[in-house]
Amino acid sequence: AQRPIVIQGAMPVEVDKLIQGLKKVKKEKYGSFVFYKGEINRYPVIVSKTGKGMENAAAATAIAIVKYHPIAIINQGTSGGHVPNIHVFDIVVGKRVTNIGSFKTEIRGKNQGITPTRWMPMDLTASEESEEEVKAGQIRYFEGDQALLADAMKITDQYHKGKVVEGTIGSADVWNNEVDRINWLNSLFSTFVEEMEAASSAQVAESFQVPFLGIRIVSNNIVNGEKYNPNTETAGQSYVYKLVKTYIYNL
Ligand code: 5AD
Repeated sequence: AQRPIVIQGAMPVEVDKLIQGLKKVKKEKYGSFVFYKGEINRYPVIVSKTGKGMENAAAATAIAIVKYHPIAIINQGTSGGHVPNIHVFDIVVGKRVTNIGSFKTEIRGKNQGITPTRWMPMDLTASEESEEEVKAGQIRYFEGDQALLADAMKITDQYHKGKVVEGTIGSADVWNNEVDRINWLNSLFSTFVEEMEAASSAQVAESFQVPFLGIRIVSNNIVNGEKYNPNTETAGQSYVYKLVKTYIYNL
């Protein structure tokens, strides 16, 4: 049997258009994790509604890999801009994704305060040495799959609502609205956008050696003052749908 492509989205509005694009859909549920098994151009594609956040994304990814043995996993949805020249409706193709919520703090005693900008990124995959921490400049990145990246950049002329760029996607169980904190995160991780799932999904995909791509449409950007636009949800899914068709064609 052909190994399916899994497309993940956190919220119902981030998967509904993709589900509509599937033929012969069958729904399967494990716990709170819903999978819509179908076909695109006669190739098996499974749309996974993961739920929000890192834990849900990780669990949905592990279930998908063990149950369905996917050929590739795409984690897609909305995101918030980390730089002023990334606008609402722009699409960031994840050259790499990284966890921007895992840190080790400095040692500080009672009444010595809290100093978030001095926190050090911590690599969650460095499990062999329990005290392991990433030194400055050695951030743990998960690389996007070359074939998926290339296909995503091959179809940019089919998108007219904004620009499509390759960049770094940062994930954490945090929605950052402090511009100074966003600027600090950007200087540390070189993030173009933030969201709450891709790095967690990538971490699990990597542990099973499954090709992975994160791809995110910008729905809001506090850095340049652009407000949340819900219409981005549909635009992002239609780009991912085109990407999957291109990927299937080239298989
Ligand atoms: N920060 C964090 N998550 C965001 N999302 C969209 N914009 C942002 C942002 N600025 C996405 C997350 C999550 C949901 C809250 O929306 O991926 O699924």
